[in-house]
Amino acid sequence: MISSKTMKAVVLTSPTAADEIILTDIPVPKVRPGWVLVKVRAFGLNHSEQILRLKEISAKYIQKPIIPGIECVGEIADSSDSQFRCGQKVVALMGGMGRSFNGSYAEYALLPTSHVFAVTSQLPWEQLAAVPETYYTAWGSLFECLNLTSGDTLLIRGGTCALGYASLQLAKALGCKVIATTHKKEKLPLLSAADHAVLDTGELSNGISGITKALELVGPKTLYDTLHCVNKGGVVCSTGILGGVFSVRDFDPIRYIPNGVYLTGFYSNSPSQDIIDKIFNFLSVHDLIPCIGGIFKFEDIKEACKAFDKGTINGKIVIKTE
Ligand SMILES: NC(=O)c1ccc[n+]([C@@H]2O[C@H](COP(=O)([O-])OP(=O)(O)OC[C@H]3O[C@@H](n4cnc5c(N)ncnc54)[C@H](OP(=O)(O)O)[C@@H]3O)[C@@H](O)[C@H]2O)c1
Repeated sequence: MISSKTMKAVVLTSPTAADEIILTDIPVPKVRPGWVLVKVRAFGLNHSEQILRLKEISAKYIQKPIIPGIECVGEIADSSDSQFRCGQKVVALMGGMGRSFNGSYAEYALLPTSHVFAVTSQLPWEQLAAVPETYYTAWGSLFECLNLTSGDTLLIRGGTCALGYASLQLAKALGCKVIATTHKKEKLPLLSAADHAVLDTGELSNGISGITKALELVGPKTLYDTLHCVNKGGVVCSTGILGGVFSVRDFDPIRYIPNGVYLTGFYSNSPSQDIIDKIFNFLSVHDLIPCIGGIFKFEDIKEACKAFDKGTINGKIVIKTE
């Protein structure tokens, strides 16, 4: 299963513009107890990787050099002392991947078994790669946090991102009414799967009604307004930070959260085999193809990251290693 002693990887030591990304030849990592070696077949790009690459890499708590990448799909190349078997299809995400230890922008990744999950899906690698982080976050936000049911009317604020498209797809498959927003008029057609696509001017609460659940992807920048969009008894899940504001300043829960409205948040750091199984089962039962914005070859990772930074591709960018 391990075809070479060396592999190509993106190795970062300092802030790196997309234009400066190169593939380096380094040794394939040696497996150790509690960890498995995964032959990476494809992986998705994420915001947190962009933040790490451009800025956060300077922080002391990031080990350097570091291979970024918080998720991947592939096959077990060395199962070590785990229950996995060589060649088994897996997805992996989070748990410090690409931050505390080397991640997925590589041909092989040494990963802790706690964050590697078996899959039997027959989706092609590029479609499979659109699932782990994005659909796990959409699933957790919608079902663990919002307890979404078919009778709900869901507001997705900041719908034109990978997470927005995935959440819209899952909620519509469930049978919900969905209102999705974009801050760009020209992007309204991208939300045609929603019952209503709405232009977000920053203030929605005066013109919107009947919302029982809201998925906040713009984040603290619009959270106060989103809390005022939902009915009494409604729930808001703050999951994204697209607005570039990371926290609520001087948070006073008494005045900030309207009476009888519930606020929750989702953090994608605790995936489990059970949830991964549920996601793939849901996709299969509802005959859903994971949403993808663009597919690049590994050798073109520089171009993929440039497109990511410019925001020229709508939806999940996936890299195929072969
Ligand atoms: N809580 C968690 O554990 C978790 C997990 C995964 C992701 N996230 C967060 O969820 C958000 C979405 O992630 P993603 O991977 O789906 O992002 P993405 O696909 O990379 O989407 C980025 C795009 O969102 C668009 N966008 C839509 N509304 C926006 C707004 N109001 N302000 C700025 N940009 C807006 C931008 O395009 P336009 O400006 O052209 O519309 C931008 O190009 C991110 O903030 C990410 O950090 C959180």
